[in-house]
Amino acid sequence: MDLFIYFAAYLLGSIPTALIIGRIFFKVDIRQHGSNNPGATNTLRVLGKRAAIVVLLIDSGKGALAAALPILLGTEHDPLAVGLIAVVGHCFPIFAGFRGGKAIATTAGVLIVANIWLFLIAYFAFVAVIYVTKYVYFGSLSVGVTLLIYALFKPANEHDFIFLLFLILLIFLHRSNIKNHLSQNEPKINDKRIKDD
Ligand code: G3P
Repeated sequence: MDLFIYFAAYLLGSIPTALIIGRIFFKVDIRQHGSNNPGATNTLRVLGKRAAIVVLLIDSGKGALAAALPILLGTEHDPLAVGLIAVVGHCFPIFAGFRGGKAIATTAGVLIVANIWLFLIAYFAFVAVIYVTKYVYFGSLSVGVTLLIYALFKPANEHDFIFLLFLILLIFLHRSNIKNHLSQNEPKINDKRIKDD
């Protein structure tokens, strides 16, 4: 059971929601359009609001379910650690050639179950940063920064190291956004241009 729960979480996170929705309902491979990212933001950009909401709900739902596995199976595992393995699955999915999303929706679901206050703080930062800057990826990185600040300032928090790794993972996953920004090609949230080249 010890490793099985992490394996189950990884498989759950690996379900490529945006890819499935795009292929079944729009006959489109989301990874060939917009930012090429199989996540809710790119689904909004390429397939529209309704598809993006469905992707957001399912991607956060699989994170929530993974974090709830220790409770559902009655084990002593840390829900945050199990949930973050599902995030790894979402980013590097075995069912989609290890080319997955950028962690934000699935992490939201994990935090809703593992630490609701942390979810509220981190995703308030997410929304506020996007509202001010209009760049979704700034909001996404601010989730990682918020979690790390929380871990550093909370005494005896065993999650410092996990959140440091998480922020490094987020920066790695957003490297194309950073590159686009430096060459002034990163679209804002209200940008109608699609980077479909
Ligand atoms: O949460 C994903 C967001 O930070 C960036 O998405 O599609 O603009 O690369 P995208």
